[in-house]
Amino acid sequence: MTADSLLIARGAVVLGAKGMLGRGLCRLLEGRGVSVIAADRDELDIASPEAVKQSRLPMDAVWFNCAAWTNVDGAEEHEADALAVNGGEGLAVLCARIKEAGGKLVHVSTDYVFDGKATKPYGVDEPRNPIGAYGRTKAAGEKVIEQSGCDFIVARTSWLYAPWANNFVRTMAKLTRDKDELKVVDDQRGRPTSAEHLARSLVSLVDAEGSGVFHVTDGGECTWFEFACAVRDGLGHTCVVKPCTTAEFPRPAPRPAYSVLDLSRTESLIGNMPHWRVNLADVLKRLEPLD
Ligand SMILES: NC(=O)c1ccc[n+]([C@@H]2O[C@H](COP(=O)([O-])OP(=O)(O)OC[C@H]3O[C@@H](n4cnc5c(N)ncnc54)[C@H](OP(=O)(O)O)[C@@H]3O)[C@@H](O)[C@H]2O)c1
Repeated sequence: MTADSLLIARGAVVLGAKGMLGRGLCRLLEGRGVSVIAADRDELDIASPEAVKQSRLPMDAVWFNCAAWTNVDGAEEHEADALAVNGGEGLAVLCARIKEAGGKLVHVSTDYVFDGKATKPYGVDEPRNPIGAYGRTKAAGEKVIEQSGCDFIVARTSWLYAPWANNFVRTMAKLTRDKDELKVVDDQRGRPTSAEHLARSLVSLVDAEGSGVFHVTDGGECTWFEFACAVRDGLGHTCVVKPCTTAEFPRPAPRPAYSVLDLSRTESLIGNMPHWRVNLADVLKRLEPLD
């Protein structure tokens, strides 16, 4: 059964529907005529196992879990709260219920499950070794899903951006518009990811009857500094952007220095990921109003 027919037959539940990715995913699925239940914390609090047990949402649907504790720095002080959302008992109960009902779980994870010490792209099977609390909670979520026996796709992604919501592209669009000069870190390397491209890829993975762990990002790689310069140039701003080191901007949570995810498993199933400069140019044309 193709994704469209599976999704048409079963419908989709998008949890975290008001988030950056959830919003793009709901729009995409609705545009394809899929019956979508857009759920957020009010409809189902995934941090509450009891709420998940009692939920009347259809467990035989294709579930896209875009709900997450995404405050990387906040997770350092509130790891138990972050774990409850990202990899706790609520997720375990959800997996068990989806398994029992014959549904499918498409779950989104992160490059932060790796330590960032590699010098070549991380393969899907490389050992998880998170260096911060957020990564630990997301790694725990992956294990919960893998051990549950449900039909799942775990899609790890990185550096998400969209025309809406709070993200690096929108922040740089504002800062390069409003400031004459700016410093951006140049010693962290990764792969930006358009949330809309990720949404399309998740649906394509379902369509291709994918199961297991996949990496989904834009193609190419860069540092935050290079990414910021591309935002500035794409918008025709004239702000001077200067490279700096992570050490110059200490944050509560450590960041992986190298978080390039290997895309070969995904690309062999659903085709090549467009370069981040292509996806970025498309997003910059449609930026929602900045403050
Ligand atoms: N953003 C990135 O750069 C990035 C990078 C790598 C991976 N990821 C992963 O990609 C996925 C999507 O990220 P995103 O940036 O779209 O996230 P986001 O914008 O922060 O959205 C997360 C959504 O989850 C909801 N949520 C939080 N706690 C919940 C709970 N207990 N029950 C139900 N819903 C809850 C949030 O609702 P509230 O607004 O009410 O909290 C929000 O709607 C996440 O799994 C994230 O870990 C993101």
